[in-house]
Amino acid sequence: MLLLGIETSCDETAAGVLKDRRTLLSNVILSQVVHQPYGGVVPELASREHMRNLVPIVDQALAEAKTPLEKIEGLAVTFGPGLVGALLVGISFAKAVAVSRRLPIIGVNHLEGHIFSNALEHPELEPPFVCLVVSGGHTLLVLVKNWGVYRLLGQTRDDAAGEAFDKVAKLLGAGYPGGQKIDDLAQTGNPARITFPRAYLEKEAYDFSFSGLKTAVALYVQKLSERERENLLPHLCAGFQEAVVDVLVAKTVRAAEESNVSAIAVAGGVARNRRLRQRLGDEASRRGMKFFVPVPQFCTDNAAMIAAAGAFHLSRGERSDLSLNAAPYVPLNGVA
Ligand code: KG4
Ligand code: ZN
Repeated sequence: MLLLGIETSCDETAAGVLKDRRTLLSNVILSQVVHQPYGGVVPELASREHMRNLVPIVDQALAEAKTPLEKIEGLAVTFGPGLVGALLVGISFAKAVAVSRRLPIIGVNHLEGHIFSNALEHPELEPPFVCLVVSGGHTLLVLVKNWGVYRLLGQTRDDAAGEAFDKVAKLLGAGYPGGQKIDDLAQTGNPARITFPRAYLEKEAYDFSFSGLKTAVALYVQKLSERERENLLPHLCAGFQEAVVDVLVAKTVRAAEESNVSAIAVAGGVARNRRLRQRLGDEASRRGMKFFVPVPQFCTDNAAMIAAAGAFHLSRGERSDLSLNAAPYVPLNGVA
């Protein structure tokens, strides 16, 4: 089956063509730059950029896949969670194509899409496994009992991990988008030079909290002169990053042990972080567990992961109808 995947939930306009659930023929991603001066995503600008760019991006995805629209046999589109206006652009487009070409369409949960980014690349990954989903909007610890069957073990009680990276980057003056900047700057920093608090919460908790850490960095930086802040920047980034990674790794590994699974996966934009990939991989192998992480371009938002999740649901005979609508706050187990 040739499936066209579409993702417009936040600030990436993305389209891709997937053949038979695993063979990716194209994966085109446009990261919107209009938000740069604002240091964060401006929802209305995001919707307008999707409107302007979605058709050319789909055309490019079809051209790169050497697949004319007439050959496409189904559509998968993100229906939530995300920005309502941004989601509506992708959904409206996908529904229009589905109606005009009489094709099946499936609404895909963006969070499930992130989990499926690992399936795309690692056909050997089989449930059960524990997946840490860490993005700009979400931080979830999920027990994947089966494809399509998820138990939410924990989530953030305040900021998402990526949001913490972005906010701390902003207050350190490290630039935007913040996660990658902190990752880069931390390469030359000493993570033990400046230590920040780790929020493990209750002993048995799988939940996360990052807002206290953000405040701790803000209070530390307040006491520094401009020059000190500049000189210490790599150490501040490394110290902050280590505090986030320590907690993410400890809880993920404990969740895998307590759930009796032998594989750990990580997904979402923060899964690009080199320190997180390295530490999680080390801790998994120390325990004889397998570790799965997508290549960086499949960690951040993309349409390939949406097509992969959609292909799974379509193969089970599931379909959305034309009442498919944007669901900005839908949880992982929420359906279209
Ligand atoms: O999955 P994603 O593209 O969008 C959401 O669904 O939210 O994730 C974007 C997030 C941003 O917060 C960004 O700062 C973070 O992923 N990110 C990183 C890195 N690259 C992107 N965080 C830490 N280290 C990185 N290398
Ligand atoms: Zn995402």
